[in-house]
Amino acid sequence: MKNIVVDKLQRPLRDLRLSVTDRCNFRCRYCMPAEIFGPDYPFLPADKILSFAEMERLTAIFVALGVKKVRITGGEPLLRKDLPDLIARINKMDGVEDIAITTNGSMLKTHAHDLYQAGLKRVTVSLDSLDEERFRQLNGNRGKVKRVLEGIEAAAAAGLTVKINMVVQKGKNEQDILPMAKYFKEKHHILRFIEYMDVGNSNGWKMEEVVTKKDILDTIHANMPLKPINPNYVGEVATRYQYVDDGQEIGIISSVTDSFCANCSRARVSAEGKLYTCLFAANGFDLRALLQSSADDQVVKQKIYEVWNHRVDRYSDDRANHATRKKSKVEMSHIGG
Ligand code: GTP
Ligand code: 5AD
Ligand code: SF4
Ligand code: SF4
Repeated sequence: MKNIVVDKLQRPLRDLRLSVTDRCNFRCRYCMPAEIFGPDYPFLPADKILSFAEMERLTAIFVALGVKKVRITGGEPLLRKDLPDLIARINKMDGVEDIAITTNGSMLKTHAHDLYQAGLKRVTVSLDSLDEERFRQLNGNRGKVKRVLEGIEAAAAAGLTVKINMVVQKGKNEQDILPMAKYFKEKHHILRFIEYMDVGNSNGWKMEEVVTKKDILDTIHANMPLKPINPNYVGEVATRYQYVDDGQEIGIISSVTDSFCANCSRARVSAEGKLYTCLFAANGFDLRALLQSSADDQVVKQKIYEVWNHRVDRYSDDRANHATRKKSKVEMSHIGG
């Protein structure tokens, strides 16, 4: 078997997004609305979740197939006990060039130092408003902006490169675009604005609620002039810009109005060990069952090779198609975005 795998659209497998838990201490309306993800929601029991040893084994197999970048996601990944232990295991692997986590930042102040010591390089913090009241409206009345901002500064002080993700929704937090842009310009952290997406089956997405890349750029540019800059690498999710006056970078993730499936090299593995080849996939391939059978690494590798080799996903490119939009999708909290 060849070591490097491409899919049906000639896209290589370069990034692994590994979810370590399906639970979260927030209830953002666009991801885990509280009325659906309530006290009786059937989250995965501990014995159905991949162990760190299984994740380590799986990651090494993905690396052997061409993965260079690993991102740890959730739910909220910092809810998983001893996360630095997993980071250290992955950081040791030859071939892993980049390791990052995506977090809501509420527990980052406590964990930043240990994560950095374990070998983590980068952290992306989700934050949709600087206004305490709006922040709580957006995330189901949990946490405090102040705590997230302290987490961000603790991460930077510990030596981590920090990026911020802001999902923009019409009528919900458009008024936060400029305050967020100004705040993180001064703090010199890269802020990325994300177009609100129709992930999962529970957020009731409507196109009218999307604030487009163009709207976001116009709002910022009118106040703080911007210019485009080149991508860091082929297939980068965010389109990059910088402020003309001080060169600080921002990004826009425009999977709705300007999709980027043509270069998508991302595989996602849920906490229960299912492999998804698209953020909008209906079903995943059960790798956990394979890991717990007598299959050796070569067999697991061959299976992942086959799944990727058959991949045809291009949901965002095809979103205008009604039939595409109507199909059932995995929940965002299972595969961490
Ligand atoms: P860098 O590694 O810093 O370039 O970040 P990244 O863009 O790979 O990771 P991040 O998790 O910060 O991605 C930001 C957000 O973009 C995700 O949480 C998703 O909402 C969205 N996103 C990332 N990858 C994809 C993708 O393959 N398809 C779509 N439609 N959206 C994506
Ligand atoms: N649309 C766009 N981004 C989303 N995220 C979660 N749900 C959505 C959605 N419906 C983002 C979060 C976080 C990352 C994990 O994905 O804000 O930054
Ligand atoms: Fe939790 Fe992130 Fe989903 Fe919000 S977007 S509910 S912080 S996993
Ligand atoms: Fe990749 Fe699917 Fe997102 Fe397209 S919609 S960029 S194929 S994850």
